[in-house]
Amino acid sequence: MRNLAIRNIVKLGDDTLRKKCKPVNIIDRRTHELLDDMAQTMYEANGVGLAAPQVGVLKRIVVMDVGQGLIELINPQIVKSSGSQTAEEGCLSCGDVRKSVTRPMKVEVRALDRYGKSFTLRGEELLARCCCHEIDHLDGILFLDRAAPDPDEGE
Ligand code: NI
Repeated sequence: MRNLAIRNIVKLGDDTLRKKCKPVNIIDRRTHELLDDMAQTMYEANGVGLAAPQVGVLKRIVVMDVGQGLIELINPQIVKSSGSQTAEEGCLSCGDVRKSVTRPMKVEVRALDRYGKSFTLRGEELLARCCCHEIDHLDGILFLDRAAPDPDEGE
């Protein structure tokens, strides 16, 4: 077995974070290696979610763990959302910056698992927030884009 590898996390300012990611058409050994490395990288950085572009790979792949175990999403799509919640959010690509962001309270996500099987993930609260944040990454959107402007910002 190959050793897991911690990958470098791309930081704010890098163009990679602003690109639209491509759907995964073929799930192979390299996809599994990427998923494994992403999970390892996320845990090492004490994050709750990580999207492939954050490790420099422009593919629609996400890993998350909000405390209920590892979730892997390939080609995820939010198919339903309801309610709203507002809370502070951060991102492994954005250092210590935290901003208040309003997200749906509940989401339903369709995705493929690592074996190419389609499944539905239902998330509430932090898991819903995490799904939205990570899926945004796949379209080059950062939480900063969705944050309410600071009242003391600007002139
Ligand atoms: Ni992020």
